[in-house]
Amino acid sequence: MNKPEQVRHFLSLMDLEPQELRTLVDRAVELKRMHHAGAVHTPLANKVLAMIFAKSSTRTRVSFEAGMAQLGGSSMFLSPRDTQLGRGEPIEDTARVMSRMVDGVMIRTFDHVDIETFAAHSQVPVINGLTDLCHPCQLLADMQTYVEHRGDIRGKTVTWVGDGNNMCHSYIGAARQFDFKLNIACPEGFDPDAEILAGASDRCEISRDPRAAVENADLVVTDTWISMGQEEEKARREQAFAGYMVDRAMMDLAASDALFLHCLPAYRGKEVSAELLDAPDSVVWEEAENRMHAQKALLEFLLVG
Ligand code: CP
Ligand code: NVA
Repeated sequence: MNKPEQVRHFLSLMDLEPQELRTLVDRAVELKRMHHAGAVHTPLANKVLAMIFAKSSTRTRVSFEAGMAQLGGSSMFLSPRDTQLGRGEPIEDTARVMSRMVDGVMIRTFDHVDIETFAAHSQVPVINGLTDLCHPCQLLADMQTYVEHRGDIRGKTVTWVGDGNNMCHSYIGAARQFDFKLNIACPEGFDPDAEILAGASDRCEISRDPRAAVENADLVVTDTWISMGQEEEKARREQAFAGYMVDRAMMDLAASDALFLHCLPAYRGKEVSAELLDAPDSVVWEEAENRMHAQKALLEFLLVG
């Protein structure tokens, strides 16, 4: 039995070494090729992944569940209504109990501290399936998608347009770990977390002018202006982000071979134009598919070693 302090988790991109992240991305490309070729690869036979969801999800749930099945294991979906967490059983006790029964736990929740608390009391790896602070699994898929289309991202320029949210924080982590320059265009009052930004100050630049920030970028990324839990701020946010929609005119300012990514779900006519989402430089559908391949690589790494 593992002691909680000996277990490796994936709560943020900083939990893995840059070389480990690169290896995961390469492995994701390989697992995708094998899957498309119809290969049967079941290193997680008899392994069980518990998935705790305190927020909605399409991609994260389906990709983890399908991925575990393809790897020969199984998974269980647990909403707050399904566990005693929803009735106030402490996170610490839940972690102690669940981690005696399953081989890994994926958690999507609000407060990042909750996932850290769970991990601190878990005997098995804990994976962050999105918190208010970050969304590292999405970045594995995003990096895979860029690498597949354009090769190494090291030294490239990426521009984040929009909210300084959980996805933006993970892009800041990726700028450090994958070694690229990150321009962040966001309205005043919607900056990313100052401490996270300070950790990557040599690689990141904040701008209030999305057009200038996108100039010559190799990759342009955005996300919803209203993250889960911010529904009541909708009107105020839509007003603040006027002028921040990524559309053809904005993409035309980027490098001629620039790609567009969006973690989805997307709101057409808000943060991204309907035309751009389906244009050839948008690789968002493949990005979504890559969630499954990248997380299969992560599950192999954490659950088998
Ligand atoms: N991108 C992403 O995490 O999507 P879901 O909210 O559908 O899981
Ligand atoms: N920033 C978004 C990402 C959704 C995948 C949210 O937290 O709702």
